[in-house]
Amino acid sequence: MTSALFSPIKLADLELDNRIVVSPMCQYSADDGSATDWHLGHLGMLANSGAALVVVEATHVERRGRITHGCLGLYSDDNEAALARVLAHCRRIGTAKLGIQLAHAGRKASSQLPWQGGLGLKQNEDAWETIAPSAIAFGNAWHAPRAMSRDDMDRVRDAFVSSARRALRLGFDAIELHLAHGYLLHSFMSPISNHRTDEYNGSAEGRLRFPLEVVAAVRAMVPRSVPLGARITGSDWLDGGMTPDDAAVLAKALKQAGLDFVCVSSGGITSEVKIALGPGYQVPFAEKVRREAGIPTRAVGLIATPQQAEAIVTEGKADMIALARAMLDDPHWGWRAAQVLGAEVKRPPQYARAAPKLWPGAAYRG
Ligand SMILES: Cc1cc2nc3c(=O)[nH]c(=O)nc-3n(C[C@H](O)[C@H](O)[C@H](O)COP(=O)(O)O)c2cc1C
Repeated sequence: MTSALFSPIKLADLELDNRIVVSPMCQYSADDGSATDWHLGHLGMLANSGAALVVVEATHVERRGRITHGCLGLYSDDNEAALARVLAHCRRIGTAKLGIQLAHAGRKASSQLPWQGGLGLKQNEDAWETIAPSAIAFGNAWHAPRAMSRDDMDRVRDAFVSSARRALRLGFDAIELHLAHGYLLHSFMSPISNHRTDEYNGSAEGRLRFPLEVVAAVRAMVPRSVPLGARITGSDWLDGGMTPDDAAVLAKALKQAGLDFVCVSSGGITSEVKIALGPGYQVPFAEKVRREAGIPTRAVGLIATPQQAEAIVTEGKADMIALARAMLDDPHWGWRAAQVLGAEVKRPPQYARAAPKLWPGAAYRG
């Protein structure tokens, strides 16, 4: 049996052994943006999950662009040194390639950790000023952001480039820009959050202008050999918001701008959004984007079983599959999927005896 999920794929010059990706997952465990021992354990574990690529959580390009006080950043030398330690660990012990998601939280910044409420920080919780395309809060319990000036936009664009430069220096195998979940770049693209009266609104083209400026600036700095992609939104799930058609238009523009892949997610543009959740609920968005834009596409969202992931790739709905919660539940998800689908997967030699297919007849030697 040949598995499509376990077939290799190449993004720019990066060769991946299979199409399984660990989705970026905020851990809210950083110290002023710097990775901690938690990240050593968490990412070290996922580096041996069988996924060919692990994408490090949303890593913010400015201190004020962090979602919470615990979010990862790549805006200082300390941040870079802390991440270097984690990467060295993952490379030493793990099998996966390592990507990073670069982000700016925009009007969703200055929030509490999820397990402390997840709402906007109170003034006595060291809150900070947030920035966004327009001075419209994400929800009643969040801060009203300041509408960005052209200077702010220049600074944010340059911060993305600077963090991408640090990511390259760290040797990340892939870089992904966060253009989804209601964070800054998505909030420029959605008519729900962008009410500007300048050239950064007025039409779908105007709303894409600033995100595409950021993409172009980062692409100009990142060598073509290194895959650069984006996580985009398939739908705002709101009347008047972004639609699957908008996602396809965006993906075409990103391909044109030289990006190597997209990951299609959805939701998060306001605190009110309700999503019709179900197995593979975002896969139709990925399928449409892949078909219409012709760019390597990753599907994500309630993909939990190996058979489900295999079918999505076999049926040509996506080129890669990202998993988040299923990987936390079973950090060897890729190993189990390989057994189920009759495929080979890399394991560290210390755990080779957990691989009956690789070692048929190997006796337990205590
Ligand atoms: C703990 C946690 C943290 C997350 N952090 C991020 C993040 O940093 N960036 C991002 O784009 N998505 C983030 N997400 C969303 C996931 O990457 C993924 O898109 C979503 O959970 C749906 O996939 P799943 O059904 O496999 O969990 C997070 C999800 C979880 C559960």
